[in-house]
Amino acid sequence: MSVIPLLGYSDRLSGRPGDQIAFKVSSLAQAPYHASLVRVICADPNPAGPGFQLEDVDLPFGGEFPSRSQPFFPGSHAVVRVDGRIPPIASLTIAATIWPTTPEKPGQGIFSCGDKDGNPILSLCLDRGTVTAVSRSSSERQTVTACLGRPIKARQWYRVWANYDAGNGTVTVGYRAFDAPTGPPNFTVAAVGSVPIADTVRFIFAGEDGDPVCGHFNGKIEAPSFIDIPVDEVDSHEYDFEHHQGAWGRWDFARDTGSTRIVDAGPLGLHGDVVNMPARAMTGSGWTGEEMSWKHAPEQYGAIHFHDDDIYDFGWETDFTFTIPEGMRSGLYAARIRCGGHEDLMPFYVCPPRGKATADLCVLASTFTYTIYGNHARPNFHPSWLDRISAWNAYPWNPAVHPEYGLSTYNFHTDGSGICHASHKRPLFSLRPGYITFGATEGDCSGLRHLQADTHLYAWLEKRGIPFDIITDQELHDDGIEAIRGYRAVTTGSHPEYHTPRTLDALRQYRERGGHFMYLGGNGFYWRIAVHPEGNGTLEIRRNEGGIRAWAAEPGEYFQAFDGGYGGLWRRNNRPPQQLAGVGFSAQGNFHGSYYRIDPDARVNPETAWIFEGVERETVGDFGFSGNGAAGFELDRADHRLGTPENTRVIARSENHHESFIPVPEELLTHITTWSGEPVEKLVRADMVYQRSDSGSQLFSTGSITFCGSLLYNDADNDISRIVANVLRRFLSPEAPKWNLGP
Ligand SMILES: [Fe+2]
Repeated sequence: MSVIPLLGYSDRLSGRPGDQIAFKVSSLAQAPYHASLVRVICADPNPAGPGFQLEDVDLPFGGEFPSRSQPFFPGSHAVVRVDGRIPPIASLTIAATIWPTTPEKPGQGIFSCGDKDGNPILSLCLDRGTVTAVSRSSSERQTVTACLGRPIKARQWYRVWANYDAGNGTVTVGYRAFDAPTGPPNFTVAAVGSVPIADTVRFIFAGEDGDPVCGHFNGKIEAPSFIDIPVDEVDSHEYDFEHHQGAWGRWDFARDTGSTRIVDAGPLGLHGDVVNMPARAMTGSGWTGEEMSWKHAPEQYGAIHFHDDDIYDFGWETDFTFTIPEGMRSGLYAARIRCGGHEDLMPFYVCPPRGKATADLCVLASTFTYTIYGNHARPNFHPSWLDRISAWNAYPWNPAVHPEYGLSTYNFHTDGSGICHASHKRPLFSLRPGYITFGATEGDCSGLRHLQADTHLYAWLEKRGIPFDIITDQELHDDGIEAIRGYRAVTTGSHPEYHTPRTLDALRQYRERGGHFMYLGGNGFYWRIAVHPEGNGTLEIRRNEGGIRAWAAEPGEYFQAFDGGYGGLWRRNNRPPQQLAGVGFSAQGNFHGSYYRIDPDARVNPETAWIFEGVERETVGDFGFSGNGAAGFELDRADHRLGTPENTRVIARSENHHESFIPVPEELLTHITTWSGEPVEKLVRADMVYQRSDSGSQLFSTGSITFCGSLLYNDADNDISRIVANVLRRFLSPEAPKWNLGP
């Protein structure tokens, strides 16, 4: 399965002293591989840039380990173990309600009964547009097809069933379309001989039993059921289960949608588990459109959407572990594994002990955003990018070339539905130091985003000799304000886009208590996400209504399954980014950057003049390793109506943007009018802002994703570097500079 020779992942992306991180590796080599520890100073492979900088760390770590190939198995499904929980059965009816999305795909299991060796005994399937029952008598597989010639259609509801009658050795398979309740019978009866139904030890939904489970189904399944009699020619959905004397089960997928459990509403309590995280709280066959939240009408949300390419936690065995020692410096590290000329770097953050800041500055690592983007196969990927990757000796593997490792929530499933779950418990190429996001950029641009782009900030702080701790979204979500309590200033990186209510609460409280906040990115604090309540690290995103979005959630499916929250933009959840950061998403274009023009008043006003000390020019930032300019790609603006505090000062404003830039969809009312009332072209700008709140908290925001890419330009001797140093000098030391922050 695995074609990449050496690859691994860790069970967590961050930890504190005392925490153990487990590393899982798949190596196709015969020889052992070697693992060591490095600190990542700069992850930019651009030879014209600051340089790829790793530093060996002298701590007990890794060593030599035998190579082994570890498999992974995509495809979501559900498993119910019935062994010993039902009386022996001879005859059986299995049924489900389905909404297929790829009905033409061959061999899709809907409801499969398997024996102890993982062999399917009787399976209800969808095969090339027809409903089939596949039975096994002794070793022979026989397929009975319902009503050839009337193909099952995509995105329509059907009740489908199959039964085996032990009395006469026949299998019946049939279906009924919800939009054609009457009409000719849609079932077929065929003699198949003896089928060993009594050998059934488990049921599989959305796949056919096997080792591993195979024949994955694409689409929704609702209310699967079984009953231990041959309900010939009957839609078993209408059978009077409650008064049946024998064995039966009927699963209600509307229950426990925030879990990996499925609940059997029948008397036997044959609860099961979902595998590979299918989408839950999906509209079912009875959704009327009158209710939008599954919490208000769970009976209308009894469907699970399964996908044949769902893959999140790979479930690999652990090869080695590392316990973060007391006193280990906070920062970005990587487990480096090497074997036969191949190398992989598994990144992780070391955070300070809880409640014990070891520096005055805290840098937030946007690991939720990194994970949400994890393995983003970009639609504009071009094979020519591989030439640059090779020339720069950049990280060689790209999700656009290897989609089999699972894609991101910026991609689609094979059936065209949007991927709404993300997990870091698998190899994420896009998190590797040395990975480049854009491979066809011009000038000095490195084409970096996310983790790699954020190392521009880490490397700049290092170069300036400014100590900093790193806290990730995970600690912020888990510990709230406790995670950032002891810092004079907290800064984001380039793109802190995805947040939970808890991460936003923590940052808001930090400002309310007087902490200084720097937002050095763009399109931050934009989408709401949910964290799976079972602690498995899975994130959920519903791309609702509007915003710059990679796909569109289906009507009625805007509420998150994990926590019942209304998904989508924080702007539509009463928390626009401007409330926290003074600025929020306004325009997007290609990966091009421009410059800011400094407001003349901000230069002379004593409240803000200090920010521009040592800056001579009227414009700043027309250079950089991200998009060749400090104001680029995704731009944020101040807007009082969206929550920008009244006393916020716009101290610089970007201009002269590339022709590709347009306002974001939520800003456009028509082709000539905008939500804010400003002309369309005026919304294409980044506002650099400063604010001091009543609590004493100071705010500095730059409103651009590419901003941090300019810090190290010209060996960090530039105006963007000077501005950030001026702000940090003030934020970190109210009285006098605590560190030499340079010119
Ligand atoms: Fe983004």
